[in-house]
Amino acid sequence: MSAAAASPRHYAPLRHVLLVAIEHMTMRFGGLTAVDDLSFEVRRGDITALIGPNGAGKTTVFNCITGFYKPSSGRIALASAEGVTSADVARVTRSGQRYHVNGNGGVFLLERMPDFEIAARASVARTFQNIRLFTGMTVLENLVVAQHNRLMHASGFSLLGLLGTAGYRRAERAAVERALYWLDTIGLTARADDPAGDLPYGDQRRLEIARAMCTDPVLLCLDEPAAGLNPRESADLNTLLRKIRDGHATSILLIEHDMSVVMEISDHVVVLEHGAKISDGTPDFVKNDPTVIAAYLGVDESEEPAAEAEIEAAQRRGARKAGGNGNGSGKPGTNGSPGGAR
Ligand SMILES: Nc1ncnc2c1ncn2[C@@H]1O[C@H](COP(=O)(O)OP(=O)(O)O)[C@@H](O)[C@H]1O
Ligand SMILES: [Mg+2]
Repeated sequence: MSAAAASPRHYAPLRHVLLVAIEHMTMRFGGLTAVDDLSFEVRRGDITALIGPNGAGKTTVFNCITGFYKPSSGRIALASAEGVTSADVARVTRSGQRYHVNGNGGVFLLERMPDFEIAARASVARTFQNIRLFTGMTVLENLVVAQHNRLMHASGFSLLGLLGTAGYRRAERAAVERALYWLDTIGLTARADDPAGDLPYGDQRRLEIARAMCTDPVLLCLDEPAAGLNPRESADLNTLLRKIRDGHATSILLIEHDMSVVMEISDHVVVLEHGAKISDGTPDFVKNDPTVIAAYLGVDESEEPAAEAEIEAAQRRGARKAGGNGNGSGKPGTNGSPGGAR
């Protein structure tokens, strides 16, 4: 095994390898079905976008993936070890275990795991629809605090460990270095000692993402990071997300309301409406999918003729294009694929 492969964080992203398979996931709140038999996959090294109108169930999907909610039914399998097959996932499922660690990764059945374990063991990080920084702490402190888990491990969870073993001091230095790296990446080194709450909104958004990246996640879940940003801030965000995708072994699952942002940076788009998947594929495929156009037009009866004309135009465009299939990605299939059925 090469040195690069020894760290799960620094191998070259393996495009199109399955990272997360969400299979037949349903989430009910009393009589309301917020997510309805949803299946899709997140491939390693991709920016996967989850889009859909307000109330479609996007945040609920995130809450299930990150362990904030336990889905009513379905499986969420994250495979971060190399070469995991669907048979491996099936074996862990049958065994009744929550996860099986293998080298630097493993198979994690997220629907069985509590949120802290999903963050610490499965290496899934998230940001929220509303900013949740420690606004009274400095910018740098926010990034170091994010690494609390790692530092506690280095201390052996003991006072003696905290008080000065070489291992702890090394970990502490590494934590500060990692924080400085991300500060530089988001261009906020000059603001390191300012309270995070003093930053402009767009900088706070990017600091939140940097904070999540300080935990070296294999999957980063971002809930509407572009909401409320001006065009300049939005462009900075896109640059940061591309940098994360291209330079780090972190795959991104992105909830975004704004189709134009999504179309610009995503490799793969999944569209939800009323908790169900209505489209799944490349940005181009989804953009021209009549079902998506209808959902986004929010068709009511008075608008029907215009919407129909739009749909027909899209269908004509779709027919002219050879690409686009049900799965929409045009990419090779992966093990354990739940398929792209609508
Ligand atoms: N904790 C909850 N209890 C009851 N209903 C909820 C809860 N969370 C979300 N919902 C409902 O589930 C549906 C989907 O919500 P949400 O996932 O927040 O949508 P989105 O993020 O796509 O706007 C909505 O009807 C919402 O009211
Ligand atoms: Mg939401």
